[in-house]
Amino acid sequence: MRSICRFVRHFDGEKSEIMAKKERNSFSGSMGFVLAAAGSAVGLGNIWRFPYLAARDGGGLFLLIYIVLAVTFGFTLLITEVAIGRRSQQGPLTAYGYFHKKWAFLGWFSFIVPYIIYPYYCVIGGWVLKYFATYLSFNGKEAVSDGFFTGFIMSQWEPIILTAIFAIMCFYIVYRGVEKGIEKYSRIIMPALVIMVVFICGYSMFISHTDANGVTRTGLDGAAVYFLPNFEGLTLRRFLMIALDAMGQLFYSLSIAMGIMVAYGSYMKRSVNLGQAVDRIEIFDTLIAVLAGLMIIPVVYVFMGTEGMKAGPGLMFIALPNVFDSLGVFGTVIGMVFFLMVLFAAITSAVSILEAIVASVKDKFGWTRKKSVLIMAGTGFIWSVVVCLGYNIWYFEYPLPNGAIGQILDIFDYVSNNVLMPVLAILTCVLIGWVVSPRLLVGEMRLNGYKFTRKGLYFVMLKFVVPLMLTVLLLTAFIQF
Ligand code: PHE
Repeated sequence: MRSICRFVRHFDGEKSEIMAKKERNSFSGSMGFVLAAAGSAVGLGNIWRFPYLAARDGGGLFLLIYIVLAVTFGFTLLITEVAIGRRSQQGPLTAYGYFHKKWAFLGWFSFIVPYIIYPYYCVIGGWVLKYFATYLSFNGKEAVSDGFFTGFIMSQWEPIILTAIFAIMCFYIVYRGVEKGIEKYSRIIMPALVIMVVFICGYSMFISHTDANGVTRTGLDGAAVYFLPNFEGLTLRRFLMIALDAMGQLFYSLSIAMGIMVAYGSYMKRSVNLGQAVDRIEIFDTLIAVLAGLMIIPVVYVFMGTEGMKAGPGLMFIALPNVFDSLGVFGTVIGMVFFLMVLFAAITSAVSILEAIVASVKDKFGWTRKKSVLIMAGTGFIWSVVVCLGYNIWYFEYPLPNGAIGQILDIFDYVSNNVLMPVLAILTCVLIGWVVSPRLLVGEMRLNGYKFTRKGLYFVMLKFVVPLMLTVLLLTAFIQF
């Protein structure tokens, strides 16, 4: 107990020191923070990865496990990171050292992770731009022709140019700053995104199609397949695999262990109710993921049956264009709206990851925002070019420890997502749960009247359950179960 008091005194001393320094950039209030953080959380993970996992993992069963994990596992990690940021008022690179000098190395992890992800996320942003442009010019037919996708990524210049356009948009927003850039654009983009998702969902509910065998399937049948749990052939092993999928997805979807939530937390005003804001981000992110499934799964089911739903990662880039094609001209319009929505989701996520790296170097080296953005986005772009070339002149096939065959993008993705992120999150739990004290952050969470009803659960999760679950997740990166 005494040591906690000492810690608290020590931190309060430092807090006033920090306050005395010049005002830190910040979001204007709770809403600005929630929209920006939700903008980060809602990304390709929600729209592309969540639906295909749900389709593969027994629909409603996956949903159920996902939601239970969201309010326990996801909540614990998310609130911890945001509180670390707000408490320390530091970018990710220096935030961990603020809590314990010997643990300052964790800052480097949370600098390196987003620095690895940013370049390839921009490349995927470029792919989305390609699809959007194809629909915008009413060439949706092209998108379903054989080899459209591979032909594109294997060409040398086009992916680089589109990646550059995407990266310049991100650069501009981050360059403008926290309130005038990130918050301002999130306030426009996020509501637009919600409207588009709801529109396509509504549409996908009401389509129907009769196939060559005379079988008619409707969007509502598809929705039932998505929502109703499928217990067929369920074994303990399969249940655990689904739980692992859900956990990995949640981890990625909430933008945890990427330094982002620490950076955004550091821009949150002390007058904002942190716990409530975190609840809202979680609800927003989960809702968009569930709606994305409702938007994609029924349309694919109607035209391709349950077989089509097994399309896996190709669901978005290959199966959906086929569906849009079957819908005629209207399909082109839906395709356009769909890829614009995906583009919006990708931009706000890429912006957050660039901001995380920028916040790190700004606070560590005292650089200005402009200098930090120029250097980080500039060097990041060089890496993006390397990733693009990994599909043509530098093509190779590298067997990853989990059995997949990867190119440069997959290697970046594997090292960051499967290895470094779980390690960072486990060590964060150890630092806050055991080395310092979770009580320290609870004070931060309760600052503005948040009734922390899940406090007991939070302690148990942070100290025991979450690190254990993450260790299993980490092991799956090396061992195939
Ligand atoms: N949460 C994001 C998603 O679902 C993941 C992400 C965020 C990736 C930020 C990169 C940068 O897509």
